[in-house]
Amino acid sequence: MRAAVVTSFGGPEAVRVDEVEVPEPGAGQVRIKVAATALNPVDVGLREGVFGGEGQTVGLGWDVAGTVDAGGAAAGWGAGDEVVALHHCMVKPLGAHAEYVVVPADAVARAPRTADAVHAATLPLNALTAAQALDLLALPAGGSLLVTGAAGAVGGYAVQLAAHRGITVTALAREDDEELVRSLGAAHFAGGRVEAGGFDAVLDAAVLGGRALAWVRDGGAYAGVIPGAEPAPERGVRVAAVEVVADGARLAELVRLADEGVLTLRVAETYPLADVVKAHARLAEGGVRGRLVLVP
Ligand SMILES: NC(=O)c1ccc[n+]([C@@H]2O[C@H](COP(=O)([O-])OP(=O)(O)OC[C@H]3O[C@@H](n4cnc5c(N)ncnc54)[C@H](OP(=O)(O)O)[C@@H]3O)[C@@H](O)[C@H]2O)c1
Repeated sequence: MRAAVVTSFGGPEAVRVDEVEVPEPGAGQVRIKVAATALNPVDVGLREGVFGGEGQTVGLGWDVAGTVDAGGAAAGWGAGDEVVALHHCMVKPLGAHAEYVVVPADAVARAPRTADAVHAATLPLNALTAAQALDLLALPAGGSLLVTGAAGAVGGYAVQLAAHRGITVTALAREDDEELVRSLGAAHFAGGRVEAGGFDAVLDAAVLGGRALAWVRDGGAYAGVIPGAEPAPERGVRVAAVEVVADGARLAELVRLADEGVLTLRVAETYPLADVVKAHARLAEGGVRGRLVLVP
């Protein structure tokens, strides 16, 4: 089968499509025939060597939508089931940017009924990250939340999930994104100046760090998205960073919310897997809203 890998770190041109063995599922694993797989910032980090793996073959791709192909019977999966999954792909030889991927059975959820595979592939990584970041903040309904990077994939899902829970969301995004983030459920828009200490919590999907921490009220909560890069706690603010965990049951809840129209699956463009370098180059240009999705 074909799979996107890097063996030498660098820019978009460092990505190669190699011919590799189809992976075999072991006990407790499912093999998925990939129908669509999103390209995320973490794949850029892997490509550039941010997460290490020098001298190894590093697979790319965390998000998968496709059909069960082998394995998973003990967990109730059967060949042909339409599914989505998070493939936790931190420096592994094979990612989901491939024709087949093997994941733990408990990372898999039934695919949305209301979306095609291309749209479904935008859900697992970023909706799980948003949900797990909101867990860290533990804000009750009626609380106030500032989401930075609200027009992005993590930020957008966070706005929608928080608004759905009755949290009052202020979205910090580029001026041009005001209409978008309001359509996702942000009650307020912060394009420029933000009031210090004005929020019960901040979910910092734009990785603004100490600047974003200053917007949390004394004793509030801050959630970052880059473990190890979160700012030092101050003024009694709880500081944590989300590290996404594959969780099929939680993903099934997020699929339900997508089917109910609570979560919007945003696709910018699709590329055949053979054009993976072009997709990386497009992401590097910036200004992409919605995900770039590869189709093997
Ligand atoms: N820890 C984990 O488990 C985990 C999981 C998933 C993602 N992440 C991380 O979470 C971050 C967000 O991921 P993503 O997929 O949501 O990225 P994304 O789709 O690129 O979204 C980031 C958004 O933030 C905006 N932004 C950046 N700086 C800004 C600023 N100063 N003011 C206003 N908006 C700003 C960007 O706008 P422009 O495009 O115009 O710059 C973009 O809309 C990434 O760093 C990613 O690696 C972590």
